[in-house]
Amino acid sequence: MMSRFVVFFFAFLSLLAGSQIYAAPTNEIVARQIGNIQCNINRLQIVTGLAKLQGTLGSLIGEVSSDSAALAGVQSAASSVTGAEAAIGVIAKALLTGQAAPAAARDQVGANLTAAHDALAAITSTDPTASATLQKALTQLNDAATAGDGVVANCK
Ligand SMILES: *[C@@H]1O[C@H](CO)[C@@H](O)[C@H](O)[C@H]1NC(C)=O
Repeated sequence: MMSRFVVFFFAFLSLLAGSQIYAAPTNEIVARQIGNIQCNINRLQIVTGLAKLQGTLGSLIGEVSSDSAALAGVQSAASSVTGAEAAIGVIAKALLTGQAAPAAARDQVGANLTAAHDALAAITSTDPTASATLQKALTQLNDAATAGDGVVANCK
C-alpha cells in the first residue's frame, strides 16, 4: 500500500517536473499565437477588409460587364483576393491548432495582394460609376495591405 503511494507520488512529481520543463517554451508559443491587442485588431482588419473588397469587386464586375478587358482585370483581382483569403485561412488554422504559421502562407497573402493591386491598377474605365467603384476597391485593398503590414509588425 505504502509503496504504491510512493510510486504514485514520484510519478506525480515527475509530471510536475515535466510541466516545469515545458512551461516556458509553451507559454512563449501561446503568447505569440494569441498576440497582443494591436496584432488582433490588425488580423480582424485584414479579414474584414478583404471581405468588403470582395463585395466591391462583385459590384465592379457588374459595372464593367460590357468592357471585356476591364472585366478580365477585375476577375483576376477577385481571384487573387480569394487566394489571399485562402492563405489567411491556412494561417488562422495553424494558430488555432497551436502550430507555427507557415511562412509560405504569409508570402502568399502578400503576393496575392500585390497581384490584385496590379490587376486593378491596369484597368482604365471611362464609365464614371465604374471608375468610382474602382477607386473604392483600390482604397480598400490599400487598407487591407496596411492591416497586413500591421500583422507582420505586431504579431510576434
Ligand atoms: C495566392 O494564394 C494561393 C493560396 O491561397 C497560392 O496558391 C498562390 O500561389 C498565391 N498567388 C501568388 C501570386 O502568390
